[in-house]
Amino acid sequence: MDRGARTPFSKDFTQQEPIPEDAIQQAVNVLRTGRLHRYNTMPDGKSETTLLEEEFSDYQGSEYCLACASCGSALYLALKSAGVHTGDKVLCNAFTLAPVPGAIENTNADIVLVDIKEDYTIDLDDLDRKAERSGAKYLLLSHMRGHITDMDIVRKICSAHKLFLIEDCAHTMGASWANRKSGTFGDIACFSTQTYKHMNSGEGGLLTTNHPAVAARAIIFSGSYMLYKDHTRRPDLKFFEVLKTQVPNYSCRMDNLRAAILRPQLRELDDQCERWNTRYHLIENKLKAVPGLFIPERDVQEQFIGSSIQFSLPGQDGNTILAFIENCREQGVVLKWFGAPEPDGYTSVYKHWQYMNTNPELMNADRILATMCDMRIPLTFTDTDCLDIAAIISQTAGRWLKD
Ligand SMILES: Cc1ncc(COP(=O)(O)O)c(C=O)c1O
Repeated sequence: MDRGARTPFSKDFTQQEPIPEDAIQQAVNVLRTGRLHRYNTMPDGKSETTLLEEEFSDYQGSEYCLACASCGSALYLALKSAGVHTGDKVLCNAFTLAPVPGAIENTNADIVLVDIKEDYTIDLDDLDRKAERSGAKYLLLSHMRGHITDMDIVRKICSAHKLFLIEDCAHTMGASWANRKSGTFGDIACFSTQTYKHMNSGEGGLLTTNHPAVAARAIIFSGSYMLYKDHTRRPDLKFFEVLKTQVPNYSCRMDNLRAAILRPQLRELDDQCERWNTRYHLIENKLKAVPGLFIPERDVQEQFIGSSIQFSLPGQDGNTILAFIENCREQGVVLKWFGAPEPDGYTSVYKHWQYMNTNPELMNADRILATMCDMRIPLTFTDTDCLDIAAIISQTAGRWLKD
């Protein structure tokens, strides 16, 4: 028998944990030096940004790492460094967030949207088909809301069609597929350290790759002012020689203050991910039993991080979903809805990105997004909070959803 929820729930769904004290101290140390710009170092000194790149590339097991201003800017640098030009085609799953098509548009490339499946991941048959038909040479695969598809099949498709794979790991920092870290399957991976992600520096991004020429281009694009030799997770200097006068400066750097905040968080990342998953599973276990609510089964190979949860309300119309969400909100539980006619806050879908100028052929994305709900799970919620939230959703579903 379910425990009744204590309603209304009164905690804020946007409240992240405070920045850890050692990170605050490290930030204060940087502020005291006045050396906030990544290249403003003492002779022979290493900046916090360089140290973060060393530590994150060790964490990911990548050869090279570049700290950026945001994940969106990292994605843009990734596309440019991969060689994407005006009019090139870039494949991308239809379930993603606005910065992803934004990065593609920024390169003047054409986006080719790929369908999604009931479990919210990319439809691999559609990917195979569209790679063949479009002749695209790039795939920007967004592990949206932490949902990771079968990366072994993705790699096979990429190799069959010679696709350059960029992984958008904004929601999969710390996650794995089949015990291999998310972000190590493709040619480039981009991560976010924006406040709602798994490490929090307000804004920030990290780009990793094993390709020396790509890394050199990304470093120069990011705005290295010919100081690329200060990077320690960079390729040999010979890779920069020709590029240094050919590659423009897009000024997408990270600064030392953010890097200082992130370095201690990286040391705690795996523990934090476990804490997210404990909360996620408490909620998921309860919601799975709720009639009318569908939570996709996740592949055992998918070692995701449950910093948010998605579920669908199959067969429900828009008005019913709105009423359900509104009723949850009145009890303090904030759900987002990917089926809303207008983009709202962080929640928008491909139909809202009208600048894309594309007429996507998608069989299932509309139907799946139309009933998909989304909820943040901040670490400021306790286990009891999670059970209360699940009980509120469950009771509200019982009252509002039609059979
Ligand atoms: C799936 C996805 N990719 C990329 C980004 C871009 O991250 P940032 O806000 O660091 O630019 C976001 C941001 O929320 C995202 O949700």
